[in-house]
Amino acid sequence: MKDYEKDKEYWDERLPKYDREGHKVWSRVAFRLQEDFLRKKLRKLKPSSVMEIGFGTGRVLRIVRQELPNARIVGHDQSDAGLEAATEKVPDAELVTGGWPAELFGDEEFDLVLLVEVLLHNRWGDCRNLMQEAMRIGKKVLIVDPSMCGEIQFTGQGWCLV
Ligand SMILES: C[S@@+](CC[C@H](N)C(=O)[O-])C[C@H]1O[C@@H](n2cnc3c(N)ncnc32)[C@H](O)[C@@H]1O
Repeated sequence: MKDYEKDKEYWDERLPKYDREGHKVWSRVAFRLQEDFLRKKLRKLKPSSVMEIGFGTGRVLRIVRQELPNARIVGHDQSDAGLEAATEKVPDAELVTGGWPAELFGDEEFDLVLLVEVLLHNRWGDCRNLMQEAMRIGKKVLIVDPSMCGEIQFTGQGWCLV
């Protein structure tokens, strides 16, 4: 069982500063490449519903809304410290925080589930549970994570589409 309380404490402390982390030179380059990549995938896949697990401060949700003006956008995060910032970026997103609310989401409810910069912050067992749930509720799952290696190796970022 994931230790939500311990992880939540860490993110409650870090998320209020998270948008500013993107101004560091390395993060700016990495985020820019990652965001261009996400835009390209969203244009190609054209999902009509998108769920992001670990939405943080809404950096990714904003891109989803810009690319898909009519899509249903839902997000979950264990911490509520980025909720205000995310709501400001995408006011019409349906955002849920706290422990994983499995009962809220049906099988294959979403065309696409995103996990961006999330798995690396989880222990192996929690990653497995997250992946299982993402694959249950999504028809497709797009993972973008610096802990993987793949197409955009320049930044140490990797991705896979399940
Ligand atoms: C590095 S931030 C990434 C935020 C956003 N995806 C982005 O790329 O800007 C990681 C976020 O994932 C959340 N998170 C990590 N593990 C999670 C889990 N198992 N369930 C829900 N949220 C999680 C954290 O609370 C944090 O807000």
